[in-house]
Parts: sequence; structure tokens; C-alpha cells
Amino acid sequence: MSEVNTGSLSPPKKYALITGASQGLGRSIAMELAGRGHGVVLVARSTDKLKEVVSLCKELNGGRAIALEMDLTRPDAINDLMTELERLQLSIEVLVNNAGEAVWGFFGDMPLSDHLRMMRLNMFVPVELTHRMLPLLLRNEKAYILNIGSMTGYNAMATFSTYSGSKSFILRWSRSLRMELKEKGISVTCVCPGSVLTGFTERAGMQVMDDLAKRFGSPPGPIARSSVKALFSGKAEHVPGFLDGITATLMGLLPTGLVEKISSGIYLKKLPHR
Ligand SMILES: NC(=O)c1ccc[n+]([C@@H]2O[C@H](COP(=O)([O-])OP(=O)(O)OC[C@H]3O[C@@H](n4cnc5c(N)ncnc54)[C@H](OP(=O)(O)O)[C@@H]3O)[C@@H](O)[C@H]2O)c1
Repeated sequence: MSEVNTGSLSPPKKYALITGASQGLGRSIAMELAGRGHGVVLVARSTDKLKEVVSLCKELNGGRAIALEMDLTRPDAINDLMTELERLQLSIEVLVNNAGEAVWGFFGDMPLSDHLRMMRLNMFVPVELTHRMLPLLLRNEKAYILNIGSMTGYNAMATFSTYSGSKSFILRWSRSLRMELKEKGISVTCVCPGSVLTGFTERAGMQVMDDLAKRFGSPPGPIARSSVKALFSGKAEHVPGFLDGITATLMGLLPTGLVEKISSGIYLKKLPHR
């Protein structure tokens, strides 16, 4: 881990920590929070991209942006992150568990190590980080946790078994946590986006889905705005985007088996036959 840019810090107040803030949705959420005046702690691996987000955020919030470069899947990563936060003595009131990846393909065809790494990033990291951050968040009269799920977490999905499973976990965990923490002044929100145009699908090796993603995907800016709005209005769960919101509602009304068949069918059709 290395600190990319601490800049000159003003007294620590109202910081938000965002994982996966170097690009995509996390970058847009960081900028949205900085635009609302929050200091931001940005966590990801890519030094250059983080530097760029730091300077964009500093322009928005008057200079309060810090980047912590780290691979969150490393066994000691959260320990190192907490040590760094302790050293920086920041008051953090918002935690955004955003960093995530997808493994796409038939379960048995994909290396086990890919499934396990993804499960670590998408599930173990948010759990460990939230557990370790709770004492810091509880120091505030009011604090917020934003967990990034996915619409794929709403139903079983062939070709996305461990990914959709990880996002189902995030949703259930998030809603359970919300009930426990409400009385303690911490509001927990789970945002479940549909397709967001971030390059996420390319990184998951899903280039064959590009045409669909371009047709139905949303740019990350409005999704981030809607997510942050849902967070501060204290929503338990939110599907950003008008069309995705309608789709999620319809999916909830149809028989589970039918929804699974339709949504899995779209992805199965795109995978080469075994
Ligand atoms: N895009 C979509 O269509 C979509 C839809 C629904 C839900 N989501 C969810 O939204 C979240 C963000 O996705 P996105 O589309 O913005 O993805 P993205 O563009 O690929 O960004 C992922 C972020 O996570 C960071 N990251 C990845 N592995 C990491 C690691 N081992 N340690 C630290 N940071 C790591 C990446 O930064 P570095 O590479 O610099 O480390 C990057 O900042 C994810 O949880 C995803 O599941 C995305």
C-alpha cells in the first residue's frame, strides 16, 4: 500500500471512504460526494487513475481528497487500511462499499481462483471493512453506509452464478445490517444498478454483450447521483435509473422461474456452446 496524495489537509470533518474509486461508478460517487462538500478517501489499486480522481475531487471540495493505493483482496489489506486511517485521524461519516468485479462464464469453466478472488472482493472485503469501520462511524451522531449491489442479485443467473450470488449476499446483508444499526444512528442503503457503462463488462470478458450494454446501459454519473441521493434520503434499497426501476418492479411481480429463464437466457445465448 502507498499513499498517493495527501495534499494539505484541513481539519478532519465529514469524510467519506469509497472503495473502487479510481474509475467507473466509484469514481463518480466520489465526485458526487466531493461536490456535496465531503472530504473523500479513495481506495483502489491504480495510482495514476487515483491521482486524477484526487485532483478532480479537490477542485470540488476545496482540497480534501486522499488516495490510498491498495489491492483490497490482499490478506492484510483491511488491516493496513485501518492503520492508515488511524494515522490520518480522519472523521469518517460515510462508507461506500463499491469495489467489485464479475466472473462471467460457465461455473466449471472458469478458474476456481477467479471465483474465490471475486467472492473475496465482493463479499469478504465489505464485511471486514464495515466491521472494522463501525467504531469510527459510531463516533458520529449520524453516519451512512452505501453498499453497491446489482440487479443481478435479485434472481439466479446462469453464467453469473458466483457474481449474482455475491450481489444477493450484499443485498440481504445490507438490509439486515440496516435493521441493527438504525437505532445507533447509522443508515444503511443498498443500491442495485442495472447495466452501467463503465468498462466493467469488458473487464469481465463480456465483450459479446457490448451491443446490449450500449443499448440499455446508463452512464455512471447519473447512477452515482441517484445512489448518493438514495443514501442521504435513508432508503433501504434502490434501483437507479427509470427503466431499470421499472424492470426490477416487473421482475418482482413475475414468477421466479420465468424471470430466471428470461434473464439467464440472454446471457446463455451469448456464450459459445460447450
Ligand atoms: N458496471 C455495471 O454494469 C454494474 C452493474 C451493477 C453493479 N455494478 C457494481 O458496481 C460496482 C462498481 O462497478 P464498476 O462498473 O464501476 O466497475 P469498474 O469500472 O471495473 O471499477 C471497479 C473499481 O474497483 C476497483 N477494484 C477492483 N479490484 C480491486 C482490488 N482488488 N482492490 C482494490 N480496488 C479494486 C477498481 O480499481 P483498480 O483497478 O484501480 O483497483 C475500480 O476502481 C461493483 O461492485 C459492481 O459489481 C456494476
